[in-house]
Amino acid sequence: MTIILDGKLCANKIIENLRTQTVKLDKKPNLVVIQVGNNPASKIYVKNKQKKAEYIGYNSYIIELPSSVSEDNILEQIYMLNDNPEVNAILVQLPLPENINQQKITEAIDPIKDVDCFTSYNFGWLALGYNPYVLPCTPKGILRLLDEYSIVLEGKNIIVIGRSNIVGKPLSLLLQQRNATVTMAHSRTENLKDISSLMDIVISAIGMPHFITSQYIKDGAIVIDVGINRTEEGLKGDVKFDEVKDKTSYITPVPGGVGPMTIAMLMENTMQLYNIQKNLIL
Ligand code: GUN
Repeated sequence: MTIILDGKLCANKIIENLRTQTVKLDKKPNLVVIQVGNNPASKIYVKNKQKKAEYIGYNSYIIELPSSVSEDNILEQIYMLNDNPEVNAILVQLPLPENINQQKITEAIDPIKDVDCFTSYNFGWLALGYNPYVLPCTPKGILRLLDEYSIVLEGKNIIVIGRSNIVGKPLSLLLQQRNATVTMAHSRTENLKDISSLMDIVISAIGMPHFITSQYIKDGAIVIDVGINRTEEGLKGDVKFDEVKDKTSYITPVPGGVGPMTIAMLMENTMQLYNIQKNLIL
């Protein structure tokens, strides 16, 4: 029997819990999102994040900058947010326009307000196995969803397909910390089907619609689909869900799987940074 990993349900529980906590606070957590340019998908994500933040009761602001904005101008905005004690969490929505140096921008965020774990300070701590201020949202959301269903990671053979700084790279590190045996695959991996079809857990974050077919999956495997691919026929995951589903023991749907968990973790991270900063001031 296949169990659908219901990210929406799990995320909603987390959101409701944060909402209950926030009502009791005199001063509300404050999240600022910087959105540069007109990437339509990014704009939708940012709006969704803001809606959720407002629902919880956070103060939430979007700084929209045109794609023609200079790097210096973005840096100025970040320095002001770093210095503003009212701001708890700063998120720079990626991707940035090509002429902007992403490293320079993300490194400018004060690590204690780095809600995505994008700075080398926080990511470095994560890589070393220490606790960064917060964990990156999508990897944290995937682990939380697996934990919610009591799925054991220790000793499991797990393939992470996609080596991005946002998902694949930090997720592979966190899985190793949970004592999983991790294979890190990517677009140049040879014989991917052969390797993937041996794995207990397959996590796909390659951004290619319906790339993962049943040939990539062994009987009874667990499948996590991180893909959110906007196609002419609508939103599609990396996994060919209808074909793969019956072969799996657990699988995430798209939508309603990893996506809502990412947003829930962003909201949780905002609260976590708020609490860290509050305790520093006291
Ligand atoms: N673009 C796609 N996913 C993310 C994310 O998790 N954080 C940020 N800042 N940008 C993204």
